Amino acid sequence: MAMSEPIVVLTGAGVSAESGIRTFRASDGLWEDHRVEDVATPEGFASDPLLVHRFYNERRQQLRDPSVRPNPAHEALARLEREYDGDVLVVTQNIDDLHERAGSRNVVHMHGELLKARCAGCGAVVAAVGDLGPTDSCEACGALGAMRPHVVWFGEIPLLMDEISSAIQRCGTFVAIGTSGLVYPAAGFVQVAGLAGAHTVEINLTTSYVTSVFDEVVTGPAGEQVPAWVERLLART
Ligand code: OAD
Repeated sequence: MAMSEPIVVLTGAGVSAESGIRTFRASDGLWEDHRVEDVATPEGFASDPLLVHRFYNERRQQLRDPSVRPNPAHEALARLEREYDGDVLVVTQNIDDLHERAGSRNVVHMHGELLKARCAGCGAVVAAVGDLGPTDSCEACGALGAMRPHVVWFGEIPLLMDEISSAIQRCGTFVAIGTSGLVYPAAGFVQVAGLAGAHTVEINLTTSYVTSVFDEVVTGPAGEQVPAWVERLLART
């Protein structure tokens, strides 16, 4: 591989675990004590918008907690973008803003962003730093009660898939960090990257559902293993 070939980094909840944000598939099968169907589906939102808004308001408040901040894995990926002599794109499934806070600029949030809201009527996307509620109106079209979290729920199509697909087709290295390999289409990116000729690397605390597909597997906490991997990669360039 030429050492300026583009790099695509796919991140999942495991990259933010050491920042104090719980992963989705912890042992109890619940997401922050809720059934995923209740808080992360369009049907859940339709049947109890107050509950869903309250759930995401809590997640947003958690993000403002001073103890929640980027960890060495986020920082190493920002360093990679700054120092690598080629394109680095972070495709994250996470809805937090920890990659941006660490300094990454080239970030795509395929499952949306906690700090944004979207109008279900006109599609306008606006900043949402504080709480949202079922009676909020849209700044753009004035529709009452149409604002929803700008997050992708089960049954919905992930965002920016064209941009992601073309980056994966072009990359020389694809690395997946802290993701279980259960949720598609993200779980299938490694196959696409491998078929397109990229070197594929997985960094995870343990094995994922797609570990066997990767060329190289690094096992351990992202906060330790990602800085070490970035160091090795930059040393080769
Ligand atoms: P999961 O909770 O499914 O998986 C987290 C992964 O991170 C697991 O494979 C863990 O082994 C790994 N992990 C945990 N702590 C780690 C650490 N300190 N260092 C390295 N790895 C660690 O989360 P995702 O794969 O991100 O989608 O889940 C994918 C999607 O499913 C989410 O984006 C969300 C969810 O439902 C939507 O909401 C649409």
